[in-house]
Amino acid sequence: MQVLILAESEVGRLAEEGLVMSAVEEAFRLDGLGQVQMPEKSYLTFSEYHGDLRTMPAYLPSLNAAGVKVVNSHPENPKAGLPTVMALVILNDPQNGQPLAIIAGSALTAIRTGAAGALAAKLLAPPNAERAGFIGGGTQARQQLKFLMRVRPIRSIQVYDIDRKKAEGFCEYARQLGISGATVAAAAQEPAGEPIVVTTTPGQGPVCGAEAFRPGSHVNAIGADAPGKQELPPAILSRAKVVVDSREQAAHSGEINVPIAKGLYRPDRIHATLGEIVAGKKPGRTADSEVTLFDSTGVAILDIALAKKIYDLAVGQKAGKIVGLDQS
Ligand SMILES: NC(=O)c1ccc[n+]([C@@H]2O[C@H](COP(=O)([O-])OP(=O)(O)OC[C@H]3O[C@@H](n4cnc5c(N)ncnc54)[C@H](O)[C@@H]3O)[C@@H](O)[C@H]2O)c1
Repeated sequence: MQVLILAESEVGRLAEEGLVMSAVEEAFRLDGLGQVQMPEKSYLTFSEYHGDLRTMPAYLPSLNAAGVKVVNSHPENPKAGLPTVMALVILNDPQNGQPLAIIAGSALTAIRTGAAGALAAKLLAPPNAERAGFIGGGTQARQQLKFLMRVRPIRSIQVYDIDRKKAEGFCEYARQLGISGATVAAAAQEPAGEPIVVTTTPGQGPVCGAEAFRPGSHVNAIGADAPGKQELPPAILSRAKVVVDSREQAAHSGEINVPIAKGLYRPDRIHATLGEIVAGKKPGRTADSEVTLFDSTGVAILDIALAKKIYDLAVGQKAGKIVGLDQS
């Protein structure tokens, strides 16, 4: 048995932004049509280390793509010089179960999440929004901005981060992407007042009050992806049209998980999954004044769909390293 090993450098080279966007949109469309298998992710919780490890399986028959991602979230890692999120993807052949590839998944996780946020913004955000606010200015915020710029003509951003250096670094990154107006905000309510708001903190409570969010805005809530995590005030959920990437995962570990546990939000108030909107089964934004909110937990169909596209490219280009796993 032989498997192809693909390192982060190869994934970075092969996964150009257009390919990532199309893989993510296709995965959501198939999900909306009910044509995927995706059990909820399962968690190991390392409370003594303030982190967790998840397994995320998915099968997309029409893409002939199956496998599992293993990914962590350890928000204190950057203090030790490690990323918060690190991942590996194992791809298997659906026909016989044979492992095909082991693919470095950290960049893949970051970019598919950025593309999912951009897709949500494309379908839900005010059409001509030129400004965006960021709460949290780390790894994921950069991907969110990079992909958001593909779907909206963003000219200025402001960012709040509890670590001012992170906010300054994010502004520098935004300038490199061609954003002329990039400023550090003094408090979270400032970016929360923009037409597009992106939250990417590992927060355990609301970053600001509901009054900070303006009518007609769109919020990409990305950071809450495990039980107990929360970034937004529950009152904004009650005002907003809430779209999730997975109903089950959102209720268990997304932005709505804490409000549901406290009886402040009901899962039957979810408007749609993003897949249902992509597939044309549910409408996206229907009024200029409504607040729309995408609750992203991170779904395995994105990882496996994108990993398969990268694998096919790598095989075609003879990229990566083939390793034999049989007994010697
Ligand atoms: N939904 C998804 O699919 C998905 C994918 C990747 C990461 N995540 C989650 O997103 C979060 C961020 O991931 P990352 O890789 O960007 O981590 P990161 O450590 O690179 O960045 C997080 C940033 O948030 C800042 N921050 C922390 N608390 C804050 C607060 N209360 N207010 C403002 N800023 C604050 C930190 O200083 C840091 O700069 C994590 O919770 C991670 O699990 C979700």
